[in-house]
Amino acid sequence: MTDTSSGTSRSDTDTPHPARVYDWFLGGSDHGPADEALGRQIVAMEPTAKYGARHNRWFMQRATRMLAARLGVRQFLDIGTGIPTEPNLHRVAQTAAPEASVVYVDNDPLVLTHAQALLNGTPEGVTRYLQADVREPRKILDLAGSVLDFDRPVAV
Ligand SMILES: C[S@@+](CC[C@H](N)C(=O)[O-])C[C@H]1O[C@@H](n2cnc3c(N)ncnc32)[C@H](O)[C@@H]1O
Repeated sequence: MTDTSSGTSRSDTDTPHPARVYDWFLGGSDHGPADEALGRQIVAMEPTAKYGARHNRWFMQRATRMLAARLGVRQFLDIGTGIPTEPNLHRVAQTAAPEASVVYVDNDPLVLTHAQALLNGTPEGVTRYLQADVREPRKILDLAGSVLDFDRPVAV
């Protein structure tokens, strides 16, 4: 299930785009020359920027693994998902606990175009993608509530 009820189009590739610049930092393939040019400018000003992005990603993976494998958390709400980069959160969570439920949320229509890669979870688990803004908590909770049980622990 994907919910696409908000957002504006930001698909022109001549303009650098935050999610695609982040993809360039991570060494991914979903960026263009404008994104790389801005990424290089940022690295020129802040040489650790690429490492920061990679460590951010690795932190998400370590934290998810710890929560699912060691602390028994089975529900995840990932707000600010970004362009998919393997392993994505549901892959990490469902490797530890195949029945884990994951709801992805991002406000960027570009991320929505990649959402299919976020929905290939285990048969036992659930993965959903919602297009919403973190500043719309009621909308997120209403939509995510069809998947997540808020009476049980949810890692955000
Ligand atoms: C750094 S990237 C993705 C990071 C990713 N969670 C990770 O662990 O690698 C941040 C994402 O946050 C999204 N984002 C930024 N502002 C947002 C907002 N107000 N509501 C929802 N998502 C937002 C961007 O579209 C972008 O895809």
